[in-house]
Amino acid sequence: MSLYSRHVLPLLTHLAMSKKALAAERARWIPLASGVVLEIGVGSGLNVPFYTSSVRRLYALEPSEELRRMAARRTGGARFPVEFLAASAENIPLPAASVDMVATTWTLCTIEDAGRALREFRRVLRPEGRVIFVEHGRSPDVHVARWQDRLTPIWRRVAGGCHLNRPIGRLLEEGGFAIEGLECGYVRGPRFGSYLYRGIGRPGT
Ligand SMILES: C[S@@+](CC[C@H](N)C(=O)[O-])C[C@H]1O[C@@H](n2cnc3c(N)ncnc32)[C@H](O)[C@@H]1O
Repeated sequence: MSLYSRHVLPLLTHLAMSKKALAAERARWIPLASGVVLEIGVGSGLNVPFYTSSVRRLYALEPSEELRRMAARRTGGARFPVEFLAASAENIPLPAASVDMVATTWTLCTIEDAGRALREFRRVLRPEGRVIFVEHGRSPDVHVARWQDRLTPIWRRVAGGCHLNRPIGRLLEEGGFAIEGLECGYVRGPRFGSYLYRGIGRPGT
């Protein structure tokens, strides 16, 4: 692994993800999590302060060692046990039907095989479980989407594999989730990276 991926990228990820506009989204969606929660790509742990005491246990899955280290600094005061999983979303080291909720924020863009990850989400979720998601993705504006397609090959290289152009709603539906109240729209920032998809997904039958 290069010096950039190991040390520089985690720091840049933390800085980019610490923006106020993103914190407002975290504050709105993360408190909805309860029970046994699996967070995918926990990053530097910026969601951790927004979980409430309705969470019984948090599995914090994160492949980057450096980001796990940064996140561990934020979990000290958590009101529930936090267990880090040094793993990737395509192979979640948890038994089937073992979690109540999966939380994913700005991560589905980066997972190499998002379809496989979504199958894993379904496997580990209990039948009545839910996925909370806040993700950026493909804009419905043709002009912006064209730029997202153009920029993605370069962007992936510098931004740790992030795709700007994934149609997150469709991806979740194709992955077998019914979405309750999908909310889409731009937040502050350049349009190619600020079109958000947020909502709650329920595993279909
Ligand atoms: C843009 S960051 C978002 C971090 C965090 N979710 C947040 O909201 O601040 C993308 C995260 O996805 C993680 N990631 C990349 N590939 C992954 C994979 N295959 N499985 C799980 N997480 C992955 C990265 O290490 C990084 O923490």
